Amino acid sequence: MMPDGYSSSKKTDDIREDVCGQVQQAACAALSMTRLRCILRGVDLKTYLFLLVIVPISILGIYFQSQKITCFLRPLWQSPPKPFVNIPHYYHPNVSMENLCKLHGWGIRKYPRRVFDAVVFNNEVDILTIRWKELDPYITQFILLESNSTFSGLPKPYFFATNRDQFKFMEPRLTYGTIGGRFRKGENPFVEEAYQRVAIDQLLRIAGIQDDDLLIMSDVDEIPSGHTINLLRWCDDIPPILHLHLRNYLYSFEFPWDHRSWRATVHRYRMGKTRYAHFRQTDYLLSDAGWHCSFCFRRISEFIFKMKAYSHNDRVRSPHFLNPKRIQDIICKGTDLYDMLPEEYTFKQIIGQLGPMTHSYSAIHLPAYLLNNADKYKYLMPGNCRRESG
Ligand SMILES: *[C@@H]1O[C@H](CO)[C@@H](O)[C@H](O)[C@H]1NC(C)=O
Ligand SMILES: *[C@@H]1O[C@H](CO)[C@@H](O)[C@H](O)[C@H]1NC(C)=O
Repeated sequence: MMPDGYSSSKKTDDIREDVCGQVQQAACAALSMTRLRCILRGVDLKTYLFLLVIVPISILGIYFQSQKITCFLRPLWQSPPKPFVNIPHYYHPNVSMENLCKLHGWGIRKYPRRVFDAVVFNNEVDILTIRWKELDPYITQFILLESNSTFSGLPKPYFFATNRDQFKFMEPRLTYGTIGGRFRKGENPFVEEAYQRVAIDQLLRIAGIQDDDLLIMSDVDEIPSGHTINLLRWCDDIPPILHLHLRNYLYSFEFPWDHRSWRATVHRYRMGKTRYAHFRQTDYLLSDAGWHCSFCFRRISEFIFKMKAYSHNDRVRSPHFLNPKRIQDIICKGTDLYDMLPEEYTFKQIIGQLGPMTHSYSAIHLPAYLLNNADKYKYLMPGNCRRESG
C-alpha cells in the first residue's frame, strides 16, 4: 500500500502541475490582466511556504544570532582605532640597568622612582597573590579598593577583607579602602565601574603619592612583569604615560590568545592631573611588558560569579551559559564562554580567530612566584584544565 500510495500521490502532483501549466499558458496568452493573477496563483503555495515558514525561522535565527552577526560585520561599521606607537622592549638579567635604559633611549637616574600599584578588587585572590609577589620588590605602596557591589550592581562580600591574613607579607605597605555600592537597577555597569575608579584617586592621595612617582593603573589580572617596573622606575625621560602590551591568556597559561592586551598603563603621577582610568590614554605602547590572564579561576563557581558580575554581563544570554558542565568543557576545549565571535576590526582577524584556541605547553617566562608554587597553582599551568567544582 505504502509505495503505491506514495507513487500515486506523486503522480497526482505531476499531473496537477502539468494541468496548471497548460491552463495557465492558454489563459495567460489571452489576457494580460489575468496573467498577473495566474502568476500569483502559480506561486501561491511557494509564497505561503516562504512567508509562513522560512521568514519566521530566519527572523528567529537572526534574532538569536544577532550579536554574532553584528560582531562579524564589525569591520563594516567600526574602523580600527589609531594604531599604537610600539616601543621595543629590551631585557636580559645579565644586562646592566644603565645599558637597558640606554637601549630604550633613556638615561639612568641616581635613585629609582617610588612606585604605587593601584587596583579595584573583585574576587581574584590567587591572581592578586601572584601579582603582588611579582611586583613586591619594586612597590612603595599597594592600593586596593573593593566594593560590596559588583560592576553590574549585584551585592558581593568584601572578599579581600575575608582573605586579608593571606597578604601579611605586604600589610605594612597596604592602603586599603572599601566603598558601598549604589545598587542602581538597570544602570550601565560602566557607570558603577567609573564610580569605583574615582574612589581610587582618593585612596592614592591617602597613600601619599607625589609628583613623578610611578603609578600602575591596571586590573588585578593585568600583571606587569617585575623587570618592566624596575626598568621604568630606574630610567629617566620615560614617557609621562605608557600603555603596557601584555601577553594575553584565557582560563590559564595554557591558552595564549592573540587578542591584544593594552589597557594597563604606567603614569608619572601629576598631582591634580592624573586620573585613574582604564581606557586609551596615549599612543605609546611598551612591548611584552607582562601577562594578562583573563578568567583564570580555580573554581567553576568563580567563573559563574565573574560572568554575572562582569561589566559585559549582558553577554550571558541564557541560563544555560552558567551550567557548570558547559563551563568546564569550554575551559578544556579553549572555546568562548559567551559563544561569541572575536571582537576584531578586520574579517581576516575574525576568521583567523574562529574555533578553539591553540594549546600551549610552554611555561617559559611566566611569573616566578607561579613556578615556585606550581603545586598550589596547578590549574594555571599548561595541561591542567580540570577545575575544582563548588
Ligand atoms: C651572566 O653573568 C654571570 C656573572 O656576571 C656570568 O657568570 C654568566 O655567564 C652570565 N650569563 C650569560 C647568559 O651571559
Ligand atoms: C554596602 O556598604 C554600604 C556602606 O558600608 C552599606 O551601607 C550597605 O548596606 C552595604 N550593602 C550591602 C548590600 O551589603
